Amino acid sequence: MTTRNFTRDEMETVQEILQTDSRPVPPVLKQESIKNLGTADIPREIFFSPEYHNLEVEKLWKKVWQWACREENIPNVGDYVVYDIADFSVIVVRSKADKIQAFYNSCLHRGTQLCVNEGNTLALKCPFHGWTWKLDGTLAHIPCRWDFEQVEDEAFRLPEIKVATWQGFVFINFDPDCESLESYLENIPEHFQQFALQERFTAAHVAKVMPANWKVALEAFLESYHIMATHPQILKFTGDANSQNDIYDRHNRGILSLAVQSPHLGKPLQPQAPATALIEFIKIDPEILQISEEMNPRAYAAEVTRQVFKQHLEVDCSAVSDTEMLDAISYLIFPNFLAWPGVGQSLQFRFRPYGNDPDCCIMEVLILQPCTSGVTPPAAKIHWLTSEENWSDAPELRQSGPVLDQDASNLLLLQKGLKASAKPGITLSNYQESRIRHFHQVLDKYLS
Ligand code: FES
Ligand SMILES: [Fe+2]
Repeated sequence: MTTRNFTRDEMETVQEILQTDSRPVPPVLKQESIKNLGTADIPREIFFSPEYHNLEVEKLWKKVWQWACREENIPNVGDYVVYDIADFSVIVVRSKADKIQAFYNSCLHRGTQLCVNEGNTLALKCPFHGWTWKLDGTLAHIPCRWDFEQVEDEAFRLPEIKVATWQGFVFINFDPDCESLESYLENIPEHFQQFALQERFTAAHVAKVMPANWKVALEAFLESYHIMATHPQILKFTGDANSQNDIYDRHNRGILSLAVQSPHLGKPLQPQAPATALIEFIKIDPEILQISEEMNPRAYAAEVTRQVFKQHLEVDCSAVSDTEMLDAISYLIFPNFLAWPGVGQSLQFRFRPYGNDPDCCIMEVLILQPCTSGVTPPAAKIHWLTSEENWSDAPELRQSGPVLDQDASNLLLLQKGLKASAKPGITLSNYQESRIRHFHQVLDKYLS
């Protein structure tokens, strides 16, 4: 388990907050849509009950569109990726240059899984007795066919699962009668037009089995309220309590401004200090661009990150807005895809149950980076961390690794504490944790 160590500096920041934390949060944050969410507690059993997990499988995972892989994971005909969720396993395969299909990963003879992990193949061939299907799911070959008089080709096509793509993400849906992905995503495509994630490539893909329910892990990233206790080192350049939360129909959004100071910090910093603290934190050489008195600090920090993309990656970000270069803009695409589509903070998270164990989940982090002019590098292979390894043991996550370790350090404590509690439910703050409350209301609708 990860342990959290605060430096003396960070502890002083916490002390400072404790002395000044009675100041009110700006009233601008009282939105109608959020007030309508109510204030009820959330029952704690839903985070560890096997029955609740089974209900989620039946009513949620079998019904929702879910991100299975990126198109760039399967660029060539015959490339496939196996996507697992609870007991289900799905082969996502590029069956033609312009076609992606998904099949239940189970042989129609006696049920053996046809594929594992990822790879490239000419046909889907069962390792047990050799039954074989073409990439489009039609039956190609049964050894000793004379012994299976009852088998008709058409009835023995591989059962298919719905597939749709959006901005380079491949989604699947087990429900043959589901609404289209386009309709499911609601306002998300409109919001993401400017981000154009289909033009980026996966520069890092790190995964780990975490000792907490998938909702516990997801919710650790749906609020900024924990920053002062869990990540005090970033308060100097993070607008936490005054971050923006937006509630949509199924999905929601948070905007965490960077290169501004947390409202929790009592004494005002120099105007440029949040910007220079951010530059220092993300380990950018400040010599790239000197800050001057008259410069707007956020514009300065954004310009520094543009210069870094230009110098190190030959990527021109001159048309990218300051907020897209700097801020942690996160969208929860219900139920389990948390996207930070900005250029500078471009992380994509996915959380899903680990088999049928409600006390564990698979958490994945991808960095989607703009492509150098005209060149699309191959997608990074998945890097699985062992239970002994920390997120900071994945150097490809750069400065995010140690921050993720701080988040991870809470998860086991939370999962265990939820089970040990004498209190029937968890209590959420009304604004800062509104995205969690909204997520549970949408989840409730699915499960009922
Ligand atoms: S189980 Fe697949 S060929 Fe026998
Ligand atoms: Fe965090």
